Amino acid sequence: MEERSALADWAAPRLERLSPGRRAHCLAVARLAARWAPRWGVASGDAYAAGLVHDLAREWDGPALLREAERLGWPVDEAERASPILLHGPVAAGWVREAGVGSPAIEAAVRYHTTAAPSLDALGRLVFIADALEPGRAYAGVDALRRVAEADGAAGYRAVLASTRSYLAARGIPVHPRTAAAWAQVAGEGRAEEEAPS
Ligand SMILES: [Fe+2]
Ligand SMILES: [Fe+2]
Repeated sequence: MEERSALADWAAPRLERLSPGRRAHCLAVARLAARWAPRWGVASGDAYAAGLVHDLAREWDGPALLREAERLGWPVDEAERASPILLHGPVAAGWVREAGVGSPAIEAAVRYHTTAAPSLDALGRLVFIADALEPGRAYAGVDALRRVAEADGAAGYRAVLASTRSYLAARGIPVHPRTAAAWAQVAGEGRAEEEAPS
């Protein structure tokens, strides 16, 4: 499925500048997010658009990302300064805002696609899991995560966050405070669901 929009037109030459693998990943995230959008209550055009542009800054190096984030007025935090690759979401979101081709919801989904955030709405959560689960992704456990997400989007979001945490913990990579806060939030939601009378 291809979706035409001002954002897709704006993104086309920028996607061309990415490596073929990254470009294919962006398209795959866009398509998967658009396919899942209806049951998330999200407009498929918004899901497609956010997926398409989420990694436009992913191939910039750390110093360039830091400079660009500062130019765009993003308040770079300590974790991002230590690990500037985390800035590729905020930078791409800043470009979308600057170009005036998205919406605040699309910008937020792009901004937080790497770390997640407690403020993520349905579109943001959908893009977060589509990024992790698009068909080109191949890592231990991805098929099980896909099955969870296919059956229940909210459970899929919790499972992908949990898998992100395990991945980071196994490698001793510090968890960004936004990721930790997103985890605490969904852990609470999961408990509330379990405790709710059926
Ligand atoms: Fe990314
Ligand atoms: Fe990605």
